[in-house]
Amino acid sequence: MEYTIALISGDGIGPEVSAWAVKALEKAVEGAGIRFIWKELPAGGCAIDTYGVPLPDATLEEAKNSDAVLLGAVGGPQWDTLPGHLRPERALLGLRKGLGVYANLRPALLYSQLRGACPLTEEVLPPEPGSGGPLFDLMIVRELTGGIYFGENGRGQAADGHDAGVKKTVSGAPCDYAFDTEKYSRFEVERVVQTAFDIAKKRTGRLCMVDKANVLESSRFWREITGEISRLHPSVTVTYMYVDNAAMQLVLAPRNFDVIVTSNLFGDILSDEAAAISGSIGMLASASLGDTIPGKKIPAALYEPIHGSAPGLAGKNLAN
Ligand code: IPM
Ligand code: MG
Repeated sequence: MEYTIALISGDGIGPEVSAWAVKALEKAVEGAGIRFIWKELPAGGCAIDTYGVPLPDATLEEAKNSDAVLLGAVGGPQWDTLPGHLRPERALLGLRKGLGVYANLRPALLYSQLRGACPLTEEVLPPEPGSGGPLFDLMIVRELTGGIYFGENGRGQAADGHDAGVKKTVSGAPCDYAFDTEKYSRFEVERVVQTAFDIAKKRTGRLCMVDKANVLESSRFWREITGEISRLHPSVTVTYMYVDNAAMQLVLAPRNFDVIVTSNLFGDILSDEAAAISGSIGMLASASLGDTIPGKKIPAALYEPIHGSAPGLAGKNLAN
């Protein structure tokens, strides 16, 4: 079997971590009758430098025509002052959206060998006698192609309406404003929640929906839908948790979690926290999956580490 993989190494430590990922993948399929065809594609800061845009059309097109995409990292301080639509991160968002990879799986495990790198105390996380397995093992299912990351946003002057009554600002600058919108359709929520239930069934059958339903209407919508979908999966035990509490519980009792399903923004934040307690942000890999595309061997998929481009480490062969 032959698979074409779009390899987007990107910026900073991206190229060095992806080079090792390629070696590992080649090793993993050795003798298994699988052949990978690697297609190197530019995206991120390096694409801005060469093509003037973070995600050239040809890159997205080629990525869509591949069986999967393997991405290193994008970004760096030299591109930080560019306007939002030209930042390297746009490449990542454009790829996720363009490939339709709405379900982002972020597994966080603490291997016993990395116990010393975990900042949690023994009291919080006592050794599990005799098991030798991971000290915790959870899976964050993050919605990846909707919500505030892709909602309407913009800026305006207070005179347009928002806070129009404010006459004086501390800085003395005119009272302008900025906004981002969290908007989810039933379709977007259902499909990722459904994926989370399927994953929970393959694990210990526990699913925790994380939201801010005590404040946000969009969270109440997520909860309603999760409740409805849960009726299709009676073997899964569902709990609901506010995101502030979840942030706390992750460092107080990580073993209490199995599968977490949450929105794009909350998943971004909680997965960094989960990564930190698994020893290093370098420990978290992520798979972003979409629906099966007719005529394709496997569903749309983008694989990436969740760490950034770590410009300070780049080229030193230090990144894990
Ligand atoms: C992640 C990253 C990205 C995100 C950035 C680089 C746009 O933090 O994959 O978690 O916010 O999704
Ligand atoms: Mg992140």
